Amino acid sequence: MDSFTGKLAVVTGGGSGMGRELVRQLAAQGCSVAACDLNTGAVAQAAAMAQEGAPPGVRVTSHACDVSDEAQVLRFRDELLAEHASDHVDLVFSNAGIGGGGSFISDSRQEWERTFAIDWWGVYYCARAFVPLLMASGDGVLVNTSSVNGLWASLGPGMPNTAYSTAKFAVRGFSEALIEDLRSNAPGVRVAVVLPGHVGTDIVSNSFRARGLPELEHMSDAQLEELIPRDARARLIRAGLLAEGASAGQLRQMLVRANADFRDKAPVSAAEAATVILDGVRSGAWRILVGQDAKMIDAAVRAKPEAAYDYAELFRALADKPAGPAGTPRAGPA
Ligand SMILES: NC(=O)c1ccc[n+]([C@@H]2O[C@H](COP(=O)([O-])OP(=O)(O)OC[C@H]3O[C@@H](n4cnc5c(N)ncnc54)[C@H](O)[C@@H]3O)[C@@H](O)[C@H]2O)c1
Repeated sequence: MDSFTGKLAVVTGGGSGMGRELVRQLAAQGCSVAACDLNTGAVAQAAAMAQEGAPPGVRVTSHACDVSDEAQVLRFRDELLAEHASDHVDLVFSNAGIGGGGSFISDSRQEWERTFAIDWWGVYYCARAFVPLLMASGDGVLVNTSSVNGLWASLGPGMPNTAYSTAKFAVRGFSEALIEDLRSNAPGVRVAVVLPGHVGTDIVSNSFRARGLPELEHMSDAQLEELIPRDARARLIRAGLLAEGASAGQLRQMLVRANADFRDKAPVSAAEAATVILDGVRSGAWRILVGQDAKMIDAAVRAKPEAAYDYAELFRALADKPAGPAGTPRAGPA
């Protein structure tokens, strides 16, 4: 596929971050798009913005869908086929995802399973729903977003990332396993897996929202207490991110700042990431690393897998590598 012009793409999580940029850039390149999100206002806005920048003949639609609910995924599929008057789709970007469930030991089971359900089952349900439509295209591409945490299952010292990493390893494993399956059984479809490092988006606050919590600024003290229980606070204090004896107000401020820093201090913007993803898909790549940090962690973990969680040795190996244009790697990619 050397051009997206005249194609129909599906983008999940199209209301923010990399998904919103994929919708915008695909539409600008002449591709019709059906974008879905949990956040219906955000995805409607993203679709309207993309439609404005699109050449004539391109149609961008927005849809409500929680990808962790198979019935909603099937309804989204039927809705988009009707609205685009199509019997196939050419591209599927399974991009929707959230962070959370860092600790298997101390975070709530509910948070762990919500994160896993979106990040793994969402990708699985979308593959079940859309692969037959990619087969009907005759030249279809399934693009699943994993993470650098699909290569390395931690955020660094004192920062476990169990639900997210488990799901993202599953997405990478599934995508790699599909390579041979599609080659043998559906040769008109190929798969690509996206492995981003740190990309500047609102994923921190959107993840709270996807777990049914209000905007950070509007969270009650009790909700904050539940969100960051005593032992998680202790971890933040040990990591130097929170002062000893911090009030609920200070905790709220810290989370607002953490979201803004994650978005604004990233080495790669969401727009740049979307361009890397689309260039990768167009070139036929099946493994799309986004950012110098992702490339360096990938190389270090593959060179010496047994040192992956010996942080002193891992960070020494990373520091020995020259920093690329996107800057030095950091310890906490999503
Ligand atoms: N930002 C990073 O540093 C980074 C790094 C590695 C991987 N990723 C992955 O990239 C993908 C996009 O992340 P982003 O950083 O652009 O985040 P984002 O929060 O900016 O965008 C994700 C969108 O997905 C939507 N979403 C969440 N749960 C959903 C659900 N159940 N159904 C439908 N939509 C849902 C959110 O509302 C949001 O609009 C995610 O899979 C994420 O895990 C991000």
